[in-house]
Amino acid sequence: MKRILCPLLLAGLLAVACTKTECPQEKLTANDARIDEIIAQMTLEEKVEMLHSKTNMSSAGVERLGIADIRYADGPFGIREEGVPNGFQSAGWTLDSATYFPTGSALAATWSEDLAYKYGTGMGKEARLRGKDVILGPAVNIQRLPVGGRTYEYLSEDPILSAALALYYTKGVQDQGTAVCIKHFAVNNQETSRGSVDVQIDERTLREIYLKPFERAIKEGGAMSVMPAYNKVNGDYCSENEHLLNEILRGEWGFKGMTVSDWGGTHSTMGAMLHGLNVQMTGSNYLGQPVIDSIAAGKLTEEMVDEKVRQILRVRLAVEAVPDDVANTQMTSQPESQRIAREVAEKSIVLLKNEGILPIKADVKKIAVIGQNAVLKTQSGGMGAGVKALYEITPLQGIRARAGKDIEVSYAPGYKNFPGRRWGPAPAEPDPLEATAIDEPADPALLAEAVALAKEADLVIFFGGTNKSIETEGSDRKDIKLPCGQEEIVQALYAANPNLATVLISGGPTDLQVLEPVSPAIVQGWWNGTEGGTALAKVLFGDIAPSGKLPFTFPAKLEDSPAYALGNFPGNSAGGDLFTLMFRPDVLKMTPAERQALIDALPKPVSEYTERFYVGYRWFDTKGVKPKYAFGHGLSYVTFAYGQPKAKVAGDKVKVTFLLANEGTMDADEVVQLYVRRIGSAVEWPDKELKAFRRVSLKAGEHRKVTLEIPLDELRYWNGTKNTWELEHGKLQLLLGAASDDIRRTAEITI
Ligand code: BGC
Repeated sequence: MKRILCPLLLAGLLAVACTKTECPQEKLTANDARIDEIIAQMTLEEKVEMLHSKTNMSSAGVERLGIADIRYADGPFGIREEGVPNGFQSAGWTLDSATYFPTGSALAATWSEDLAYKYGTGMGKEARLRGKDVILGPAVNIQRLPVGGRTYEYLSEDPILSAALALYYTKGVQDQGTAVCIKHFAVNNQETSRGSVDVQIDERTLREIYLKPFERAIKEGGAMSVMPAYNKVNGDYCSENEHLLNEILRGEWGFKGMTVSDWGGTHSTMGAMLHGLNVQMTGSNYLGQPVIDSIAAGKLTEEMVDEKVRQILRVRLAVEAVPDDVANTQMTSQPESQRIAREVAEKSIVLLKNEGILPIKADVKKIAVIGQNAVLKTQSGGMGAGVKALYEITPLQGIRARAGKDIEVSYAPGYKNFPGRRWGPAPAEPDPLEATAIDEPADPALLAEAVALAKEADLVIFFGGTNKSIETEGSDRKDIKLPCGQEEIVQALYAANPNLATVLISGGPTDLQVLEPVSPAIVQGWWNGTEGGTALAKVLFGDIAPSGKLPFTFPAKLEDSPAYALGNFPGNSAGGDLFTLMFRPDVLKMTPAERQALIDALPKPVSEYTERFYVGYRWFDTKGVKPKYAFGHGLSYVTFAYGQPKAKVAGDKVKVTFLLANEGTMDADEVVQLYVRRIGSAVEWPDKELKAFRRVSLKAGEHRKVTLEIPLDELRYWNGTKNTWELEHGKLQLLLGAASDDIRRTAEITI
């Protein structure tokens, strides 16, 4: 078979020889000859039609030539409800209820490549049922800020974990014949001024931390499309960023597919045309008529348009269009996907603390469930990334169903729900269970009702956390405090009945300084999808052992986290929110010149990443700052014993083998984690870095040999002076454990 070289050779990258069928991006070129024939038959106008949106969720094909439109669907944790052609408002369909999968941070808490793959297959299949070609996901940006509005959509603060899950999610989706549009490329780590903020970042940090998840999904997973982010990186908008799109994505990683701007994230005709964008979403003011005019003026050529169309057609031909009479003939949500959603939820739940309260004991006959988060549905809200779920089992429903007739489960709301910014008109009558401010103190009547129930119960389960108005696309949280007097409530509940477990329902971390001392057990329950309540009840009642591990650090206090400690956030990044401006009705009516004048007058927000690669636990460990709960932390109902690891370099990998034993009396999963510390290195490194992990299922009392592998490539660093990846030879300490702060065994190796 003819062997070709993937274009990973640039910039000193390792040469990877692979065949056309092995090299995932090369597969996209399989139809290039046919594509050239198609392009030869197209008019310039038809070609340019493909470079921008046709409707809010589609871009044009060429009907005359039998080329179907490309249909997109949000992503990332369920196929979004069908919207009207020119907006996000509901189209009022009845068969478009989809499976609500656990959100990104919950998926990441499983630390499971297998589950990420299954999740992808579920998403991919449901997309096909809806006639969609491209899923706008996975969303894989690194969680840099605990307050980040999209933390719940994103995966982890760690690039190795994020990259592995991004890769398997991508494979799962694309194996079903649907394309991913991996987003948001790149360094989209804050919602504050997201439409205009200029991220100032050094090349090593960019490569080692922020690009990793994209790199694996593209190079190994063959991700077919990429969504450039709203923000700028080092001076240029991501949708016209030569370095990101042309040099790295296409040049170094060999990307052959198409880039699709985030909605409203295209900024100029020449920038987009010259620096790597294929499709403007949405609108045609840059990649529509102005492209034709620029060709006429001799500023652009038709060949440039041909190349963009070629890249789009590669995706179009790789994904079979679902015929209109086949699409939307059955309900989007399918039992198989619902089972996957449940399995992910079961394995995502993190037991943060347990002083013998959980699992719920056999003599518990009266449970008081307190807190509105036990009954609030989490499928929608959070702005774009929501799902119209076919059904959603809330925590209270899950607990009641599992408790059966013998256990009495009472409920009180405990605190008011903060509904956030209201999009529609205010209701005629204010809802007595809604707060008007996020920091509104506890309501005395609700508090008294909750305390009375707690006093009578054998066990109190307090449901705290945030909601999808507090953690949402479009804005970051001001802080990570528990809202609406929750701290006061849990203190009062504990005083009334110390047999208390807290379940946190949130996508990101919260400040637990007050809550932790008055919660003998704490569970991180996430926004856990359609079967979230069922999964939670199984863990609480001990039908299964908890096995999720934190994909990000819970700082003791917000100020401890790196971007805050260095004053980088909000820093100079607030103000100048171009994004909200662009959708203002008066601005939409302006001429391009007027709009430009308005934009020019805005402050120019900048986000400095001077913490460099000390993101998340890399910072906490290196600086010796103790977090409340560390990256990778998560308890079980059993204990696991780790045998002494044997480590060796075998070929291009470090191999670590050890015995893992489940010492408990129930079946359980452990997520084993392997970190690397450099010894006597001349290069600057964080104290330690995750390099491999595996979820291992062991029966009660079972032990098994486990092997972890670290490709030597993953031990390289980006040498900014030479502009290349480099492997530093020398000694490494391998740290094997159950969490970043729970290292059980170590070994040394020389590479
Ligand atoms: C979000 C994207 C999303 C798009 C379409 C944007 O506001 O940033 O993640 O895919 O809208 O809904």
